[in-house]
Amino acid sequence: MLFAAHDRASFTLSVWLYSHLRDTTDGPVRVAAPITTVHLALTQRPRPHRDILFARCPLLGDNPLVAAIDYDAWARTYDDTRGASPSVLQPLLDALSAANGRSLLDIGGGTGNFALPLAQAGFRVALCDFTPEMVRRAAAKPWPETSGAALAVADAQRLPFRDASFDCAVSINVLGHVPDWRAYFGEARRVIRDGPFVLKGSTAETLKGNWTVEYLPGIRDYAPAYHYQPEEFIEGALRTAGFSRVEITRIHYGDMVDGSAQALKHYPEAFLDDDCIKNTATFLRLPANQLRAGLEAIRRHYRSGRLRQVIARYEPLARRYGDGSVFISRL
Ligand SMILES: C[S@@+](CC[C@H](N)C(=O)[O-])C[C@H]1O[C@@H](n2cnc3c(N)ncnc32)[C@H](O)[C@@H]1O
Repeated sequence: MLFAAHDRASFTLSVWLYSHLRDTTDGPVRVAAPITTVHLALTQRPRPHRDILFARCPLLGDNPLVAAIDYDAWARTYDDTRGASPSVLQPLLDALSAANGRSLLDIGGGTGNFALPLAQAGFRVALCDFTPEMVRRAAAKPWPETSGAALAVADAQRLPFRDASFDCAVSINVLGHVPDWRAYFGEARRVIRDGPFVLKGSTAETLKGNWTVEYLPGIRDYAPAYHYQPEEFIEGALRTAGFSRVEITRIHYGDMVDGSAQALKHYPEAFLDDDCIKNTATFLRLPANQLRAGLEAIRRHYRSGRLRQVIARYEPLARRYGDGSVFISRL
């Protein structure tokens, strides 16, 4: 595990994050620069980024479904189309209740799109994600000086933090990327002391209300086994991980700011432009020829007006099941 600090603010934050690190089976934590070197670095001109902690992610490389997405390449274009959707942010803030300087870990926080407004709302934020390029981009964001933002490259299934290091945690649109939920939820449970752990994800129910599956059945057929599971199943996995109470609310997108498949389905014109959908894992996973054929059919039906009828058929289901679920899990 590597650890480095670059400026006075991040040094203070590093100490905060460092104090939460645990030894791993790989051996003890390694510090990239000896503390004296870190002190020397403090006298140099501060660099415009925060420190990033690197933990090893040994479990991921062998999984073909995970390998289907080039995460570093994805990170480079991620913010072109993906931001913090108010339709998701508000339910998160409601679930977390007032920040009051509480510490919060964003698990699979990507480029920090949701962590940043949570920091602005007054949480002391730490973000971890297993894609180094995602974390590098998060590091370049304008974190409020008071937020204590700290960043780590780490696997959600094996967090490098000690038990009860954070007051609460969130994880947004990560569920369909992590194969071992027992480890993922177990780790979330382990590192928080009060909670809640607020998880936002797409479910089997949301897929029922998604008209794009009619054109792109691979969304369902190529989804990893751990994506698009029934709400009840996800709730059960959270309880198994040790959360005693799980409350579920369903979200309804009124914007496409986070560029997720569930948001985009409300904006069919987005499907006319390859650039609008380029950062959506649900589509990235599809074989290129199937994606092309499906998009062509969508565009044909858009022009002919038939798409409106197809979408109208799905609307009652989308209203009923929502566009995603927020699981608010308490200890
Ligand atoms: C759809 S993005 C969501 C990012 C961020 N939560 C957001 O809403 O903007 C999924 C993220 O999960 C991360 N991820 C995937 N598998 C992971 C794992 N095992 N541990 C940590 N992060 C993971 C990816 O690198 C990516 O940043």
